[in-house]
Amino acid sequence: MTEERLMDKIIDVSLRRGFISPTAEIYGGAGGFYDYGPLGTLMRQKIIDLWRQSFVLDEDKVFEITGSLLLPEPVFQASGHLDSFSDPLVQCDKCKSMFRADELIEQITKQKAEGLTLEALDKLIQDNSINCPSCKGELSKARQFNLMFGTEIGSTGGMKGYLRPETAQNIFINFKRLAGFMRNKLPFGIAQVGHSFRNEISPRNFILRVRQFEQMEIEMFYDPEKENEHPRFDEVAEIEINLVTREMQEKGWEEPLRVTVEGAIVEGLIPNQYLAYYLAMETEMLKAMGIPETEFWFRHMQDHEAPHYSAGNFDLEVNLSLGHMEIIGNALRTDYDLQKHAKASNTSFEIADEGRKIVPHVAEPSMGVDRILYTILEKCYREDDRGWVWFQFPAAIAPLEVAVFPLMKKDGLAELAYDIHDELKDAGYLSFYDVSGKIGKRYARADEIGIPFCVTIDYETKEELTVTIRDRDSMQQIRIPIEDLEVVLGELMDGEAEFSEFEDYLIKS
Ligand code: GAP
Repeated sequence: MTEERLMDKIIDVSLRRGFISPTAEIYGGAGGFYDYGPLGTLMRQKIIDLWRQSFVLDEDKVFEITGSLLLPEPVFQASGHLDSFSDPLVQCDKCKSMFRADELIEQITKQKAEGLTLEALDKLIQDNSINCPSCKGELSKARQFNLMFGTEIGSTGGMKGYLRPETAQNIFINFKRLAGFMRNKLPFGIAQVGHSFRNEISPRNFILRVRQFEQMEIEMFYDPEKENEHPRFDEVAEIEINLVTREMQEKGWEEPLRVTVEGAIVEGLIPNQYLAYYLAMETEMLKAMGIPETEFWFRHMQDHEAPHYSAGNFDLEVNLSLGHMEIIGNALRTDYDLQKHAKASNTSFEIADEGRKIVPHVAEPSMGVDRILYTILEKCYREDDRGWVWFQFPAAIAPLEVAVFPLMKKDGLAELAYDIHDELKDAGYLSFYDVSGKIGKRYARADEIGIPFCVTIDYETKEELTVTIRDRDSMQQIRIPIEDLEVVLGELMDGEAEFSEFEDYLIKS
């Protein structure tokens, strides 16, 4: 019997416990679209909150905007997306199925094909005798397929528009006003969270390749002559990251290089402080989300793999059960987009600085919420010898933070437990109240969705004003006074205290 794929197990919990389900499931679904249930939505929000706190709110000169999802055609004519935002497509002459040519070749030959020309892809298909995987029919020649969803705007259909394939373009086309808001002083960053849309040829692997997804992006504008004068670089200079250089890829690599971001700049491995700053910040953020550092690295993409607007990409890739996957793109967009929009719209995007006129350069960290969320699910998934399936989410990312259980419904315990749950909610905890079933079953249900702590209200709560807290990871329990509950939970969640530090309160089994 083949072992069930980890992804299938995660899909199973996701469907059963309200994380994620296919869009229009009752009508057979729609390829590449997923809906997030109550727990999935809470988790997305936590991912966004963590990003927003460290990448936007903690910064002095980064602000967030909210742009339109649908943009008129001239935006994408200028940005190059109309001409270049496409993937190579081949179609089966017999059954008419469509395939992304480079992915099909990679699957069959196990050699990299992303970024190759149409001619090179055709040759590989021919040389390797690749036929339609569904019916073995002949495949057509490869052609470019534009990934944007187009539509007509207005009742007369006079204007063509497209759903944005990245959030970045809203920022570039608003640059003049945004620079004015920032008093025309570089550097500054503009952030945006929101949905992007790509009509992927073959959406697959659950939420990893979908047609609607959410991005958290920042366009950091800086003076290219001061690319190594990032105002806060000192704070991250000593942070170590995992790096895979182009040279390592050419020679074949097994382990990424471990290097501080400052060291990587000195060695000429990362082009400047603006990009390096984000590689360090992303490393810290993913660790806080429960993704071990041994499981991800930054890969300097080869020239032919980088997007049309990029002078160099350092993509964050993770080691997933089904292979390596990019979950964050870090691009050196230079002045590409601003120059294109300035020319097409006849708008000046120059900023004056000490007598010089500068069109700023851009470093862009672009993160996919959906791919990050899946990675967390996979890296926190646990099965143990009790036969339990559970998620070891850090409190910072757990969709629910504490579950409150009355031991029994009777004797006023349910009411008392509900009051405590209500107080925890008032204090800002994501608390969940559960009264049904045996207590062991309730612990199992809470563990399955990764709730880090369970608070149980029993007869001693009534008599001695104490409650128990159960730690999901060690399964140990402590008994503490009710009046200390909020503080103790807060310390445990923020990592200020470890469960083992409450030894004096431990309930010995
Ligand atoms: N503005 C730059 C940009 O969009 P990208 O590398 O194409 O760069 C950034 O996308 C991130 O968006 C990816 O690392 C990934 O997390 C997410 N993403 C892109 N396409 C996706 C898709 N079809 N499904 C899910 N996430 C996707």
